[in-house]
Amino acid sequence: MEVMARPWSLLLSFALALVAVSVAQAAVVEHTFNVGNMSISRLCKPEKIITAVNGQLPGPTIFASEGDTVVVHMVNESPYNMTIHWHGIFQRGTQWADGPAMVTQCPVQPGGNYTYRFNVTGQEGTLWWHAHNSLHRATVYGALIIKPRGGVAAYPFTKPDEEEVVILGEWWNADVDELHVNATKTGQPAPHADNYTINGKPGASSGCADPNQTHKFELKQNKTYMLRIINAGLNTPLFFKIANHSFNVVAADACYTKPYTSDIVVVSPGQTVDALLIPDADITSISGGRYYMAVIPYNSAVNALNASDLYSLSTGSAIIEYTGGSSTSPPMLPQLPEYNDTATAHRFLSSMTALVPNKVPLNVTTQMFVTVSMGDTFCEPDQNTTCLPDDKGTIFASSMNNASFILPKTTSMLEAMYRKNATGVYTRDFPDTPPIVFDYTADASELNATLKHTFKSTKVRTLKYNETVQMVLQNTRLVSKESHPMHLHGFNFFVLAQDFGNYNETTDPAKFNLVDPQERNTVAVPTGGWAVIRFIADNPGMWFMHCHFDSHLDFGLGMVFEVEDGPTPETKLPPPPSDLPQC
Ligand SMILES: *[C@@H]1O[C@H](CO)[C@@H](O)[C@H](O)[C@H]1NC(C)=O
Ligand SMILES: *[C@@H]1O[C@H](CO)[C@@H](O)[C@H](O)[C@H]1NC(C)=O
Ligand SMILES: *[C@@H]1O[C@H](CO)[C@@H](O)[C@H](O)[C@H]1NC(C)=O
Ligand SMILES: *[C@@H]1O[C@H](CO)[C@@H](O)[C@H](O)[C@H]1NC(C)=O
Ligand SMILES: *[C@@H]1O[C@H](CO)[C@@H](O)[C@H](O)[C@H]1NC(C)=O
Ligand SMILES: *[C@@H]1O[C@H](CO)[C@@H](O)[C@H](O)[C@H]1NC(C)=O
Ligand SMILES: *[C@@H]1O[C@H](CO)[C@@H](O)[C@H](O)[C@H]1NC(C)=O
Ligand SMILES: *[C@@H]1O[C@H](CO)[C@@H](O)[C@H](O)[C@H]1NC(C)=O
Ligand SMILES: *[C@@H]1O[C@H](CO)[C@@H](O)[C@H](O)[C@H]1NC(C)=O
Ligand SMILES: *[C@@H]1O[C@H](CO)[C@@H](O)[C@H](O)[C@H]1NC(C)=O
Ligand SMILES: *[C@@H]1O[C@H](CO)[C@@H](O)[C@H](O)[C@H]1NC(C)=O
Ligand SMILES: *[C@@H]1O[C@H](CO)[C@@H](O)[C@H](O)[C@H]1NC(C)=O
Repeated sequence: MEVMARPWSLLLSFALALVAVSVAQAAVVEHTFNVGNMSISRLCKPEKIITAVNGQLPGPTIFASEGDTVVVHMVNESPYNMTIHWHGIFQRGTQWADGPAMVTQCPVQPGGNYTYRFNVTGQEGTLWWHAHNSLHRATVYGALIIKPRGGVAAYPFTKPDEEEVVILGEWWNADVDELHVNATKTGQPAPHADNYTINGKPGASSGCADPNQTHKFELKQNKTYMLRIINAGLNTPLFFKIANHSFNVVAADACYTKPYTSDIVVVSPGQTVDALLIPDADITSISGGRYYMAVIPYNSAVNALNASDLYSLSTGSAIIEYTGGSSTSPPMLPQLPEYNDTATAHRFLSSMTALVPNKVPLNVTTQMFVTVSMGDTFCEPDQNTTCLPDDKGTIFASSMNNASFILPKTTSMLEAMYRKNATGVYTRDFPDTPPIVFDYTADASELNATLKHTFKSTKVRTLKYNETVQMVLQNTRLVSKESHPMHLHGFNFFVLAQDFGNYNETTDPAKFNLVDPQERNTVAVPTGGWAVIRFIADNPGMWFMHCHFDSHLDFGLGMVFEVEDGPTPETKLPPPPSDLPQC
């Protein structure tokens, strides 16, 4: 029987229609990225040429909502081979768009182009994009923001009034591609970045007072801001502070966390942190509503080098200025920790938990114990490598389980997988354990030349679809113990536990958080310590796992997971798009 529409029910359906409209329909977010030369001056030095997207540093921010399709036409107007990686995007069904050169695609050669298409499904938060070959991500990077489908109202925390992207980066005076070429030739790591930047600008310094080189955030008192903090630097974990303010951390790597109050944020290359900030200081006080936001490196390395050989011990800064503030005096600087304050870094990185209990898989089917190391390898004279003068016959190399990764030269790994012919491209023998058991973190192991020695290879660990992988990442003290930010493409993982020293498989599982562990795509393995991660391999393809310090990646700190097809058409690797670049 039909019920007559009454005025109130009409009103109700009208209201429902309004709600439906306010929940935006899935959209196509389309961009053209012209990657090319950009002339820029920093630190009062003469203009130089860098490689950048659309003449911008940082590059354009991509804003999407959960469920949208992102389409980026990348046109390579630079003189270099180029690819772009969409850091943290799962790429389910769009494996050919992941971006790491020679892993999922051949690079786009100068004059070429490639269209990256992918959906941002089941993910929301702060991610980013960057070049994934040579050291080009030093200048080819930008934010990728995924809002909830329901808009700001759907945030599971205090609704921010405004949002600010805060991209932390490195500034190199040298040409980064030349540094990469030189490093691969000599086996010596590139020197460190010259300065740190916030939204592309280094901030004030006595030597260079150009106000154009300081980013300024104008904030309204008592409003709630969401800072979307991204570490886009090549090699530097950063301490991040704002004088006289503290943060409420609500997400990391686009995964919500339980609100965590801290006056400092620690963010390693590849990681992101979303933090709420309320500018609630007294504008009539001595500082009058002007403060510095500042970053300094977290130097986690313990080795023979001086801190200043590894990192520029300078401060990157931006200005926070309250609307209506009264001060004209210089902004107040935050009190920053010491560069080597591992306790503070560890406290921040290990204190985050997931907002709601996670579905941590309990039935582990693949157990791996993997050392992440610095070491050495033999010179290969046929590749015109110049050996280190002080270490006869060997050059610097880094490794996972003693395998020092090199990219294939003629065919991308995903194409080889798709064509079912790995011959000459990769081998399926990445080991589940290191070749020998030793005291990984003992200071004495630094001196053991036998243990340090590695060989170059392109090894993958093949996984059946849907396997549950648990990986212990164990840092070693060979050459240097250091906090390596290990990034996995194609998946998020749960960080079950992390600590210092050698992992003990009998006692340490008791430390696992199987209820609400943080979920990330990049974990900073504690220096001279370990982290245990777990993920379900439910995404077929070739997924790079590597240290997000580019200097370590260049020397082989990586491996690749080859995840086999699942049983249904949606869980199979699709054919490559027709414009996939060829080698
Ligand atoms: C991406 O989303 C669009 C629109 O919802 C859909 O048609 C398409 O099949 C999705 N692609 C993949 C690879 O999931
Ligand atoms: C992209 O490459 C194709 C094939 O080489 C070419 O036809 C097209 O004009 C290029 N597009 C742009 C925008 O450069
Ligand atoms: C690369 O090496 C060459 C030859 O040793 C040197 O002249 C050049 O300055 C190096 N480039 C950089 C950026 O360090
Ligand atoms: C840049 O770094 C150098 C040392 O590497 C330092 O002397 C200088 O003050 C820094 N400049 C800025 C703007 O931080
Ligand atoms: C600062 O930027 C403005 C606007 O882009 C420009 O007009 C001015 O010349 C710049 N100042 C310096 C010192 O570069
Ligand atoms: C912010 O809050 C403080 C303390 O409640 C108050 O004194 C001040 O007037 C407020 N400022 C604005 C702009 O609302
Ligand atoms: C940090 O380095 C300083 C020297 O620069 C040293 O005195 C201090 O003990 C170090 N702190 C830690 C925690 O290693
Ligand atoms: C655990 O996984 C294995 C291999 O997939 C399967 O055979 C077994 O039934 C699973 N056990 C449970 C309790 O789910
Ligand atoms: C090594 O250098 C020589 C002379 O510069 C060059 O002819 C040769 O092609 C190089 N070999 C490789 C493998 O790059
Ligand atoms: C696999 O690739 C290798 C190297 O390119 C080639 O020699 C071989 O013929 C290929 N095998 C098949 C079955 O296609
Ligand atoms: C290096 O480590 C290996 C394996 O533990 C051991 O056999 C060897 O004696 C060590 N060498 C030195 C010089 O400590
Ligand atoms: C650029 O890519 C092409 C195709 O993969 C390759 O042959 C060439 O060596 C690359 N150039 C450089 C400088 O790496």
